[in-house]
Amino acid sequence: MISTERFRIVVGDIAHLDFLADFGSQSFIDTYREALSLPDLEQYTAEAFARPRLLTELQDPSIHYLLCADQASSWCGYAKLLPSPPPDCIGGRSAIELQRLYVAPSHKGQGVGQLLLAHAEATASRQGFRTIWLRVWAGNRVAQNLYLKAHYALVGEEPYHVGEDARTVLLMRKPLPVDQAIGPRDSADPT
Ligand SMILES: CC(C)(COP(=O)(O)OP(=O)(O)OC[C@H]1O[C@@H](n2cnc3c(N)ncnc32)[C@H](O)[C@@H]1OP(=O)(O)O)[C@@H](O)C(=O)NCCC(=O)NCCS
Repeated sequence: MISTERFRIVVGDIAHLDFLADFGSQSFIDTYREALSLPDLEQYTAEAFARPRLLTELQDPSIHYLLCADQASSWCGYAKLLPSPPPDCIGGRSAIELQRLYVAPSHKGQGVGQLLLAHAEATASRQGFRTIWLRVWAGNRVAQNLYLKAHYALVGEEPYHVGEDARTVLLMRKPLPVDQAIGPRDSADPT
């Protein structure tokens, strides 16, 4: 567990199954409700956030969930790292995907996303990964701003098929130093 003044980051385990199933599903639907149809979203989230699947992931040492709690010990966001096969444009050896980064609406704009991202990068470094990469919707300017501010580079795009529809997702990557240290401030304090 890593603590800061306002928030603490906790490594996810099976004790967090309910939060990840409920918040994971709802935050995904809320984020993409305007871009995708509700039936498609409900079908996707029913599979992706099914408790048996999450339980398997939480017991898999190669998959890392990081959760953020506020001073009242309420969960306010999470990130997920997954060693999935990267698209060609990511390149390089030893890459890990930041597959999810979600912050509760009540806590947006307080540095939680930046804090989770910094800890996801540090976790990946400690695991020996040299590149972190992600997919982000072309229309998701808020998330793109976060990644650009954290020095991720845009390296490609690809179509993402959901039901009958295709959307464009952007691919971003960032090289990681060996065993990156987490700085004392790290964005726990909003600017
Ligand atoms: C994207 C998300 C994780 C950002 O989390 P957050 O805790 O609100 O972001 P932070 O407070 O750490 O802000 C970090 C940076 O993100 C960008 N950002 C955050 N909110 C923004 C907004 N409303 N408009 C524009 N840029 C914004 C800024 O660059 C900001 O840095 P700054 O405060 O110095 O300007 C959050 O908005 C979220 O959960 N969105 C829905 C899920 C999602 O889109 N996830 C990404 C999937 S790829």
